[in-house]
Amino acid sequence: MSEKKINIAIIGLGFGAEFIPIFQNHPNANLVAVCQRDPKKLKAIQDAFGIPKGYTDYDELLRDPEIDAVHINTPIPDHARQSIAALKAGKHVACTVPMATSIADCKRIVDLTKQTGLKYMMMETVVYAREYLYIKELYDRGELGKIQFLQASHQQDMDGWPNYWPGLPPMWYATHCVGPMLALTDATAEYVSCFGSGTIRKELIKHYGSPFAVETAHIKFKDSDLTARIIRSLFDVARQYRESIDVYGSKKSFEWTLIEHEPHVLHTAKLAEPKIPKKIQVPDYAKRLPKGIQKFTTKGVYDLGKKTHLSFTQGAGHGGSHPHLAHEFLRALVEDRDPMPNAVKSANWTCVGLCAHESALAGGKIVKLPAFTQG
Ligand SMILES: NC(=O)c1ccc[n+]([C@@H]2O[C@H](COP(=O)([O-])OP(=O)(O)OC[C@H]3O[C@@H](n4cnc5c(N)ncnc54)[C@H](O)[C@@H]3O)[C@@H](O)[C@H]2O)c1
Repeated sequence: MSEKKINIAIIGLGFGAEFIPIFQNHPNANLVAVCQRDPKKLKAIQDAFGIPKGYTDYDELLRDPEIDAVHINTPIPDHARQSIAALKAGKHVACTVPMATSIADCKRIVDLTKQTGLKYMMMETVVYAREYLYIKELYDRGELGKIQFLQASHQQDMDGWPNYWPGLPPMWYATHCVGPMLALTDATAEYVSCFGSGTIRKELIKHYGSPFAVETAHIKFKDSDLTARIIRSLFDVARQYRESIDVYGSKKSFEWTLIEHEPHVLHTAKLAEPKIPKKIQVPDYAKRLPKGIQKFTTKGVYDLGKKTHLSFTQGAGHGGSHPHLAHEFLRALVEDRDPMPNAVKSANWTCVGLCAHESALAGGKIVKLPAFTQG
């Protein structure tokens, strides 16, 4: 493995703090700086992890010539502006989901990567979670047979989360569902149709003018006979946290458990009826990672004696995806190749959600994905 080191900075230290020791222990990274607005919290994290530079002002950080790449973990409304500013300042960008909340901003980011040659990766956790990696391995080996249908859900109760969440249209945060649906067969979304169902509390609706408790969308894959269905809810629906993937193949199908921590089910065609379903334990894929970061597929940063980010607890550790994400971004920079997902794919996945919400507001109208997301 190349010894080259990328000088990286993490922006936003809620969820973002989960990545500090991962970058510190990766052979291709120097974690040179962290950034968040509160100076006291910034200093506390710098001291706890021995990080040389701290910034409370993001624009000042972007002027630091030592920094090659930023990993953005700030609130959703800031993702696009900060990604665009970083690309303009000559930095590679890894950004937590979603890429943006408007199609125009997704396009700006794609255009900037094309103009500058810099890399952009949306840090979609599900496509590096062990369940996805397991399904992908089965698919690549031909064990699933021909894929016939896919579906994914992400249901979560977001009451009490930071102030940009209340009333957020469910499909604006759909990449945990969309990503695995499209990534499995390396597909591109062509168009969507989405229905809204139910109504959230009045005081929630006013924030984004989005009334629906649940949004369900069908995605038509480009140049393919496949469609996928995705289901999202954020408020006023009784449901344990669930980020699920179901994949139906001609030989084998994977169905996600209904209750967290219970086994998933693998169905095999043409067996005697009672033998068709088998409860399975999905393996961990730490072996694909450099030794120093393998432990982070099963441990959160703050398991090391401090508090754990709520998303890590509710999201079952995001399937051990964090070190895989960091590794993919760093290796893409070291090898000078596109990361998975690159800017165009990230835009296609994000715009599925944006177009789906537009469709739901128009009663299920078919909405085409923009041309710049078609690869
Ligand atoms: N599974 C996942 O992929 C996953 C899980 C959890 C959170 N997230 C994403 O991570 C992001 C952050 O979530 P969170 O729960 O940590 O949010 P949060 O609001 O608790 O924390 C945001 C952090 O960003 C910092 N920040 C905000 N504005 C800033 C600015 N202008 N400059 C520098 N720093 C700034 C804050 O100081 C804070 O440290 C969200 O976009 C969320 O969608 C993704």
